[in-house]
Amino acid sequence: MARLRIGVLVSGRGSNLQALIDSTKAGKLDAEIALVISDVADAFALERTRTEGIPGRYVDPGPRRSRLSEDAEAEIITTLDEARVDLVALAGFMRILSPAFVRHFKGRMLNIHPSLLPSFPGLHVQQQALDYGVKFSGCTVHFVDEGVDSGPIIIQAAVPVLDGDTEETLAARILREEHRIYTEAIKLFGEGRLKIEGRRVTVLP
Ligand code: GAR
Repeated sequence: MARLRIGVLVSGRGSNLQALIDSTKAGKLDAEIALVISDVADAFALERTRTEGIPGRYVDPGPRRSRLSEDAEAEIITTLDEARVDLVALAGFMRILSPAFVRHFKGRMLNIHPSLLPSFPGLHVQQQALDYGVKFSGCTVHFVDEGVDSGPIIIQAAVPVLDGDTEETLAARILREEHRIYTEAIKLFGEGRLKIEGRRVTVLP
């Protein structure tokens, strides 16, 4: 396959975006971040695109809190298609996408989530893990399907939950692993080595 073209969807700080940019620059990932789209106008992630000279764009999400408007989704699909992206990577993108949007990018849209799915889908998941009292948490890279944080799992990494952890300290420990496994999963995708069979994803040699 030619160099993988990635479209990244963000809503905030963009440290996962930065990790992907750094991986491409370091030659760890044979890919190009073709476009970054944010549903938040002043997301720091967009600042990063300006620093890095990568195309970045804000799309007005519309009035709803957890989902995009139809217009916003249509605009994002057109923009990603025009940028000829091979893969859509959700990196701290905080809205639920419609089934039609998910179908459009079926098999070529990934998400990173800061828990060991299927435990703790949704929001504030590090706090959920602390409240539940689990001894390990972690992160998951998965294909996006029509549910919430429910698609076939590609890679997970576990971290211990330590006595005295706060939401912030646990999130930081998990984040270090996120930065590592997102690159790894995208590398496997780019090499055409991910085979999905039902819920199971196997890595081809
Ligand atoms: C990351 O921890 C990511 O896994 C999480 O938001 C954070 C974004 O950080 N995503 C979700 O919770 C998606 N439901 P970042 O903007 O620094 O990459």
